[in-house]
Amino acid sequence: MMGRILDTKVTAIQFVLLAVGLGTSTDATATLCCGSLAEAGLTSRLLYPESTRYNGRQETFFSLHEDLSPWCILQPQTTEEVSTAVKTLGATEPCQFAIRSGGHHHAKASNNIHQGVTIDLGNMNSVKYHAENSTTSVEPGAQWGDIYGKLDPMGLTVAGGRDASVGVAGLVLGGGNSFYSALRGMVCDGVRRFEVVLANGDVVLANKDINSDLFQVLKGGGNNFGIVTRLDVDTFETGKLWGGLVYYPLDATADIIDAFVNFADKIDENPASSSVIFWMYQPAAKGTILGASFANIGGVVMDEPHRDFWAIQNISSSMRTTTITDLTEELILPGEVYTNVEFTLTIKSDGRAIKKVLDLHDQAVEEMKTLSDDFVSAVMFQPIALSYAAGGVARGGNVLGIDRFAETQVLCILWLQVRPELVRVAEQIMGSWYQAGHDYAVSIDQESDWIYLGYAYASQDPFAGYGRENMGKISAAAKKYDPTGVFQSRVPGGFKISKSYSGFYEDQNVMNERDEL
Ligand SMILES: Cc1cc2nc3c(=O)[nH]c(=O)nc-3n(C[C@H](O)[C@H](O)[C@H](O)COP(=O)(O)OP(=O)(O)OC[C@H]3O[C@@H](n4cnc5c(N)ncnc54)[C@H](O)[C@@H]3O)c2cc1C
Ligand SMILES: *[C@@H]1O[C@H](CO)[C@@H](O)[C@H](O)[C@H]1NC(C)=O
Ligand SMILES: *[C@@H]1O[C@H](CO)[C@@H](O)[C@H](O)[C@H]1NC(C)=O
Repeated sequence: MMGRILDTKVTAIQFVLLAVGLGTSTDATATLCCGSLAEAGLTSRLLYPESTRYNGRQETFFSLHEDLSPWCILQPQTTEEVSTAVKTLGATEPCQFAIRSGGHHHAKASNNIHQGVTIDLGNMNSVKYHAENSTTSVEPGAQWGDIYGKLDPMGLTVAGGRDASVGVAGLVLGGGNSFYSALRGMVCDGVRRFEVVLANGDVVLANKDINSDLFQVLKGGGNNFGIVTRLDVDTFETGKLWGGLVYYPLDATADIIDAFVNFADKIDENPASSSVIFWMYQPAAKGTILGASFANIGGVVMDEPHRDFWAIQNISSSMRTTTITDLTEELILPGEVYTNVEFTLTIKSDGRAIKKVLDLHDQAVEEMKTLSDDFVSAVMFQPIALSYAAGGVARGGNVLGIDRFAETQVLCILWLQVRPELVRVAEQIMGSWYQAGHDYAVSIDQESDWIYLGYAYASQDPFAGYGRENMGKISAAAKKYDPTGVFQSRVPGGFKISKSYSGFYEDQNVMNERDEL
């Protein structure tokens, strides 16, 4: 018996040594961390550098950060395996790890790690509809397109990502803007129950009655509390949608901005209609293109709320009556080639501020052109209306803080995709773009302090824009559910409440016992 355990141990350790090479203390830590998982019985779930499957997973991040090579990638298949992994790594100092679901977040090291272990939930991707309570149980590594594809044939859907390839868990934990936001709140508000693996390996459920504080903070609070292993998502009937992409000549810019601002100001009265407008520079096209993504979830063709847009002469249009599966497949943005240096800025719904952000985009393009002809840049605008908050409060609340807005805000994505050698300079260009846009908005009293976690660069601080009360809730829950701070210090990637909130180390929060099931 003893001998057998010893044999297994030796084999696991030898395997790791083989994979990472011998010599330095870093290698010893690699051996310790990956070896501890192997010893815990997870050998068959581990991928090591240089293997085909390891390389394959490294190449499937939307934004490539080529200098991040985990010592090993763990691909759990079940909640129990996630629990074993978290408990094991948590107990093995000084192992650090990253959590990855769809791998679409662009912020460096948010979903991958150098000199650590990446827990890759990509194989936990099942989707199961439950007619008895109108929910769909989804594992975190599923893509939104997997859910739409399963539900569409039944005339059902969920509120989720607008790009079929985006991952489920990361989008929900950041809030999530969908075609349904004005009717149903943010995507996270559609989650009726989470299953979460805590730092000590406990598996807990959270809904509006059980662990309700955890339930609320998971809706916007990111990876500060545990690993989400299952989400039960509200599922509802749908017919076909009217939607697609429309491209316009660049000289329609002023008309598009006017149409957008008018539209954004009236969304609360027209909750079925949505618009995103964007300008994109592609060297291949040697110029900037102007486009918009429109949808009417009620399937109304040439819907009235979009009438100002319909009046503008277009170059091409794919607007059609179709399924959400088809529409979100059309909206897939290509990734896995460049590193994204993407910032987000929120402003009020004001044409001057939008125009300024656009002018700054043109400047950024000119600067980039002097450095390279191999990059893609874009700027996108989408409204966050008051109704997006209403859906949240009714369903147990989230911590996004959008219920504090007094008027529609406009969420801007400042987007630059570059080759690795240009990342540093791209960061400077984007940082100045963000700052100049924000400063201008302040100068005309049209700024917003909100920062969308899903689009934020690693140097931005989304929690600061949620307001102090919400930061306090996130902080209290992080300390209650992870008292030893595993998700603060051992999971360094993603946005950390301990870095963002000055009260984290001060508040004497009441450590209530967790609700048991
Ligand atoms: C092309 C594209 C389209 C997009 N479209 C939309 C859109 O329509 N609406 C919208 O709101 N946003 C959109 N986003 C932004 C999107 O919400 C984020 O990129 C989100 O993080 C993606 O989720 P993911 O599972 O792929 O993330 P990942 O990169 O895998 O993870 C993101 C973060 O969440 C953490 N995390 C992931 N899984 C778990 C888990 N199970 N438990 C605990 N923590 C976890 C990770 O550690 C990481 O910090 C889009 C992004 C891209 C690139
Ligand atoms: C819905 O029903 C299924 C099947 O009975 C169950 O597994 C699931 O937990 C239920 N979901 C919720 C949110 O109650
Ligand atoms: C696009 O232009 C064509 C041709 O003028 C027109 O028939 C169509 O209605 C326009 N579509 C939209 C969505 O504006």
